[in-house]
Amino acid sequence: MPTVRPLDPSDYGALHRLYTSMSAGIPHHFRVGEEQFSEQLLGYGRLSAADCVDPGLEAAFVAERAGEPIALALTTVLAKQHEWGPMEPGTGILRFLLAPPGAQEQAIAAIRAAQDHLAQAGAHTVLAMHYIFGPVFHNTGCAMLPAAWPWLGHWLFLAGFRARSSEIRLRRSMKERPEPLELPAGSELREHVAEGRTLGAPANLDEWDLYIDGENAAQCHNAFGENYVRGARHDAVHTEWLGVAERFRGRGLARAMLRLGMVRAWDRGSRVATLTTAGINFRAQALYITEGYAQTDTMWDFHIPH
Ligand SMILES: CC(C)(COP(=O)(O)OP(=O)(O)OC[C@H]1O[C@@H](n2cnc3c(N)ncnc32)[C@H](O)[C@@H]1OP(=O)(O)O)[C@@H](O)C(=O)NCCC(=O)NCCS
Repeated sequence: MPTVRPLDPSDYGALHRLYTSMSAGIPHHFRVGEEQFSEQLLGYGRLSAADCVDPGLEAAFVAERAGEPIALALTTVLAKQHEWGPMEPGTGILRFLLAPPGAQEQAIAAIRAAQDHLAQAGAHTVLAMHYIFGPVFHNTGCAMLPAAWPWLGHWLFLAGFRARSSEIRLRRSMKERPEPLELPAGSELREHVAEGRTLGAPANLDEWDLYIDGENAAQCHNAFGENYVRGARHDAVHTEWLGVAERFRGRGLARAMLRLGMVRAWDRGSRVATLTTAGINFRAQALYITEGYAQTDTMWDFHIPH
């Protein structure tokens, strides 16, 4: 069995090279520099994730090959009830995993070390690669396993994990300024300032709600590439939290809010728009496809079934 040890700051250079080569296979992935990678690898891209974990129960394991770190597993344990899915305090999370094809032995050793750590920490449920627990620079803040890294999915399977849910990524290029759609008469747009759910500067976020008769009817949030990766600027926009209150659905508000999001992003320099949605959210997918988006990736998270 390869030796597994805690992550050391001297590992960052080699892990950054590993991450860069692995993420080259993810469609349209932003390239992150070593400085940001080293500063933020152990951080959380999402503020709600950072808020609900037990910092005393975090651990990062590295397995070596020929004296170089070749596999990494990050773990944490939830300390508080979480709004994102049915996750109770005491849920253990294998947050993030890196290892290239060919490093099965080292990857499984790192996964096992993570599982042992979570068992010792008293975790009653174990999830892996859950959406919100990864570093901000990875896949616009989504830590799920991209289709480009299937070997990791197989090694998680060998360690007892099973795929749980999928998320798909869609992308649309914008060759000209999209045409805004008309909003209902009497409706009012209200912007937020700096209420981003991801780590990031307000200048890289754009969030707004639509009010109808004083009621919050719809919302849409944009985050520019720079929100995730330094140097990515506003060339691409990632849209999140598109939602329409139930009683306002079916009247074109989502399409109008999404289109407005594209227009607002275009006006701030974006020429590409991306988003993700659950693999089972066919309703939202129907909207995105008819707005010119096309699927570029499928991502998975995992759990250990009881
Ligand atoms: C998905 C959601 C945003 C759609 O909002 P909406 O205002 O009802 O959508 P719209 O009226 O603008 O419809 C836009 C398109 O979505 C699709 N759509 C909306 N409701 C649908 C339904 N019941 N069945 C099938 N397709 C549907 C259609 O393609 C529709 O276009 P069409 O009317 O020309 O056929 C809304 O249902 C919602 O907030 N759901 C919960 C949150 C969510 O899933 N958000 C997306 C997360 S990525």
